[in-house]
Amino acid sequence: MITIAIANQKGGVGKSTTAAMLATELAMREYETLLVDADPQANATQIFIAPELVQVSLADVVIGEGRPIAERRMTTEVPHLDIVPATLALANFDRENALSVTKLRTAIRDLGNVYDFVIIDTPPNFGLLLTAALTAANYVLIPVQAAPFALSGLSDLLTVINNAKELNESLSILGAVCTIYDTRVGVAGASYRGLTEKLPDKTFETIIHRTAKLEEAPSMHQPIQFYAPGSRAAEQYSSLADEMLKRLGVSAKGSSLRVLRGN
Ligand SMILES: Nc1ncnc2c1ncn2[C@@H]1O[C@H](COP(=O)(O)OP(=O)(O)O)[C@@H](O)[C@H]1O
Ligand SMILES: [Mg+2]
Repeated sequence: MITIAIANQKGGVGKSTTAAMLATELAMREYETLLVDADPQANATQIFIAPELVQVSLADVVIGEGRPIAERRMTTEVPHLDIVPATLALANFDRENALSVTKLRTAIRDLGNVYDFVIIDTPPNFGLLLTAALTAANYVLIPVQAAPFALSGLSDLLTVINNAKELNESLSILGAVCTIYDTRVGVAGASYRGLTEKLPDKTFETIIHRTAKLEEAPSMHQPIQFYAPGSRAAEQYSSLADEMLKRLGVSAKGSSLRVLRGN
């Protein structure tokens, strides 16, 4: 089981979109995948389930006595993809004792080896939920918006990731992906180049361009691969998944699944 946290303390950079679409890509490749929504704003949840249909919450797992995560899962329309939804109640996690940061890790471990991948979406701040996600994860994937000042907070994030290694020595950075890239905006190219300079070995070659199709995802309650298959955005997330699997040393479907399960 490989657990990947999608993190950036800035809001609106494409974290929830990337978490949802990557989880879908992995499931479409027949990897058993669990998406854990660790942001009380529930944007990743909304990409799959309309808010009025959400019956369970990660809040019940990480706050208070703590229910098993297996009881707080919902299936999605995507075969091989389950989700642990977020609700606003999850915001109360920040009032928990600091020792609670390991609860998410324990809950995910208690699942055993049911999933090949667990993808965790995180909130746009340096709160306890982000620490909990970084404590539970093997890897961090950082979406960086192609925009002015996008890189300004990156050093702080790298520091926070480094600090998290004290609680979780298995944590490493899987990569950074340039998102919401608008070719009409002059600084977009400069921000991508800036990212490659800052994280030369870690920046993914795949760039996720700005497209109205991705803005529509939360209101469709479907990932882009389902409501706009073959669109450029769907292709770009597919190519990001390919690159990610290659970095993880997992080439394609089939035999690689068994390799993963064996780990
Ligand atoms: N590549 C993209 N092109 C256009 N809109 C996007 C793209 N990626 C995300 N969005 C939209 O931008 C907003 C913020 O994205 P989101 O993934 O929720 O960011 P975050 O989780 O970092 O706050 C959402 O409305 C989302 O639909
Ligand atoms: Mg989000």
